[in-house]
Amino acid sequence: MRYALISDIHANLPALEAVLADIARRPDVGAIYHLGDLVGYAPWPNEVIASLRDAGIPGVAGNYDSTVATDYKHCGCQYEEARQEELSHLSYEWTRAHVTAETKAFLGGLPFRIDLRPLGGHAAGPMVTLLHGNQVLNTVYVHEERPDGFLEKMANGVGARAGDVICFGHTHKPWHRVVAGIHFVNTGSVGRPKDGDWRAGYTLLEVRGDEPRVRVEFVRVEYDVERAAKAILESELPNDFAEYLRTGGKVTAGVNG
Ligand SMILES: [Fe+2]
Repeated sequence: MRYALISDIHANLPALEAVLADIARRPDVGAIYHLGDLVGYAPWPNEVIASLRDAGIPGVAGNYDSTVATDYKHCGCQYEEARQEELSHLSYEWTRAHVTAETKAFLGGLPFRIDLRPLGGHAAGPMVTLLHGNQVLNTVYVHEERPDGFLEKMANGVGARAGDVICFGHTHKPWHRVVAGIHFVNTGSVGRPKDGDWRAGYTLLEVRGDEPRVRVEFVRVEYDVERAAKAILESELPNDFAEYLRTGGKVTAGVNG
């Protein structure tokens, strides 16, 4: 079974369109799931959700989704300095003001986690779990640098065993580690990469009954980043966000998502 996993779209419609077109060219992909953070930072929150609904793509709630849906006081994002905090707040308020009631209801209805059994429920495993942050909160950043002990605790909380796969987003940087036989896969970001590569990112996950049982491929897709940058500049969203997209997060005034 081969999945396409798309995370942290953040209202970037051109990036989502490019990724969905790339996935459509791969007939071996059996299902697409999103890992949350559908809105925030770019000006197409309603369009992104309409597109996912049209395509019938299920997924989990990111911190941005659940905070917008419940009118929480901030997006649950992390920032390192006052300027970042200010931008984060502007973006959050812009998004809250522009989502339709329908979009908000959709965001509020997203599940916290999804468990898949790629080889069928009759077999004991493996299990693929989709989250946004960690198994308790969608605001927790699971960075690549986390110690093994942190990831083992996460696996225990999930109920994962050796051979299982835990997928998540939130940090906007793709990575794959195996700890205690469990695969930890950060699926990167479609609409707001932070690893210095401006191209839209998503992940192909293959789970098989024979070796190699788990295969992870990180895919990057060029998209019309200038269309996104122009729309940001023409909106009341902070102009800094345009440069953030063009540089893959390599500007100083970035906000974690
Ligand atoms: Fe995010």
